[in-house]
Amino acid sequence: MTEGRIWFNGALVNYDDAKIHVLTHALHYGTGVFEGIRCYNTVHGSAIFRLQDHMQRLIDSGKAYFMDLGFSRQQLEQAAIDTVRANGMAECYIRPIAFYGYGKMGVNPMPNKVSVAIAVWKWDEYIKGSGEEKGARLMTSSWARLDPHSMPMHAKATANYANSALARVEALKAGFDEAIMLNSAGMVVEASAENIFVVKDGELATPPTSTGALCGITRDSVMAIAEAYGIRCVERNIARDELYFADEVFLTGTAAEIKPVGEIDNRLVGRDGGKPGAVTRRLKELFEAVVHGKDEKFRNWLTPIS
Ligand SMILES: Cc1ncc(COP(=O)(O)O)c(C=O)c1O
Repeated sequence: MTEGRIWFNGALVNYDDAKIHVLTHALHYGTGVFEGIRCYNTVHGSAIFRLQDHMQRLIDSGKAYFMDLGFSRQQLEQAAIDTVRANGMAECYIRPIAFYGYGKMGVNPMPNKVSVAIAVWKWDEYIKGSGEEKGARLMTSSWARLDPHSMPMHAKATANYANSALARVEALKAGFDEAIMLNSAGMVVEASAENIFVVKDGELATPPTSTGALCGITRDSVMAIAEAYGIRCVERNIARDELYFADEVFLTGTAAEIKPVGEIDNRLVGRDGGKPGAVTRRLKELFEAVVHGKDEKFRNWLTPIS
């Protein structure tokens, strides 16, 4: 996207006017927090998926960095709605970001003012190679996921994404679609920007967030949908090689939505040539219905734009 309107510190400005200073603290030291949200064209009109939860996570992420965003959650929610409306998009990806600005250089961010911005754009397929026929090809990254002892990994902070970027670029350069990241104990954590689920003998499992995985909102949605539709789901440690022997593997994230995985470290997933399995297809179908307002049980996750 190169045009449209961006909400910047309380006002909608033109795309080219949403600029920051080169001495912005967050640019030098990674002191920013952000969100990724989707607005869907539902059967009831355009609506933002789990807006309150995303804005609460933004505020919580900021708390880890002593960041006062200067706007209440309700104000941020309204700002997201206003930005979508101002850009006249029925469906889009929404990117709120809060960051320490400029004025005082040095590692301590606190003397700098916090800015908040919200941009929207059209973001269709985030992970390639994850069609109906065969799921995405993943590789285990040589980069370990940042340790929760080193960083508050439950904060969606810009600083964490240098680690993600290293893993993703490594995977793309090696010809894969995405990276899987292990923690320093060798347990599966998540992909570079998605949570991970495995299906084995009919049971759905995902690593606990204590591994360092983000408390993904899509992850939470999938767990709630699975429970509502009688699919057993557990949070447990998953070793790297369990992925090779799983019946199904899929990734979840706001940008990626639900992406079937067909291959891991050059081993096909499941017994059907890496094709998306039955549980993955069912959850994907249920999730699609939920985000498009076709499932009354989860209507309260949708905030209408108009
Ligand atoms: C590292 C990481 N893990 C998981 C996720 C999935 O989270 P969510 O479903 O809230 O988008 C994301 C995306 O935000 C992410 O960046």
